[in-house]
Amino acid sequence: MSSYPETRLRRLRKSPALRSLVRETRLDLDDFVFPLFVGPTLRNDELPAMSRFSLEELVVEVEELVRLGVKAVLLFGVPDEKDEEATGAYDEDGIVQRAVRELRRRFAELVLLTDVCLCEYTSHGHCGVVRDGEVDNDETLSLLARTAVSHVDAGADAVCPSDMMDGRVRAIREALDDTGHPGTPIVAYSAKYASAFYGPFREAAESAPSFGDRRAYQMDPPNVREALRECELDVDEGADIVMVKPALPYLDVIRAVREAFDLPVAAYSVSGEYAMVKAAAARGWLDERQGALETLTAIKRAGADVIVSYWTKELAQWL
Ligand code: PBG
Repeated sequence: MSSYPETRLRRLRKSPALRSLVRETRLDLDDFVFPLFVGPTLRNDELPAMSRFSLEELVVEVEELVRLGVKAVLLFGVPDEKDEEATGAYDEDGIVQRAVRELRRRFAELVLLTDVCLCEYTSHGHCGVVRDGEVDNDETLSLLARTAVSHVDAGADAVCPSDMMDGRVRAIREALDDTGHPGTPIVAYSAKYASAFYGPFREAAESAPSFGDRRAYQMDPPNVREALRECELDVDEGADIVMVKPALPYLDVIRAVREAFDLPVAAYSVSGEYAMVKAAAARGWLDERQGALETLTAIKRAGADVIVSYWTKELAQWL
């Protein structure tokens, strides 16, 4: 390999066209998923993507998203009432089930993904049923499976379990197969860490735990080999896509998962990642558009095929 002065890497950086010609990573709206919250209206002007829509408002919002070219959304629901057994999560007439039916009827082409978890529906805010002060793994599985089936019955294209119970992918796969949905994919939040970056989400989804935290089921942030084991188990149980979450502080995990598995890898750029850039931009400390594009490009460069991002709507306008 020759070096300076024969080699000058600046030659290919001279103009926008040259840089574009040799660009290794490009953002494509087709790879993006926009999360949406449905439930009692909650406007958030500082973080617009963390707003919550009533059913009627949701339809209007999705109309705009579809017009802008957004191809996929991920639905989260907040019920009017919560209880110990998360009844609202698997109610046929629950908020997500109604939203899915409404959107399915109107937007045939839109990819409708649903988050499958109990934390928005339990009175204590944990992702599973609590017995003797602990989240009971095996008792939670059947409720998650019921929730997933009810979403797919309503018209969801895929379900995304985010609860981090052991064995939930198999439980959901079997339940979907038994109810005539063998063709519906599971997008597993496989490597989901107990992260500080979920803060703004928990406001929008009203899902902060009322006692303790999620460290006994979500992953410990320092671990990467364990993330590979989580993915391996989920793939074995029938996951069609594995997900890493959060994204930006875990780019090494995305890369490791990408290299170890051949199925599509999704990354969830979470609410705190979005809020960080928004807040800094609001203070004039950085340019939001550039900061967002750089962040999303880094996530793709690390190896994500699918990116869940609160910037998806703005991205549709930027690209
Ligand atoms: C539900 C769930 C959470 C997120 C997605 N699904 C919150 C949590 O685990 O506490 C976080 C998303 C975000 O911060 O954008 N279990």
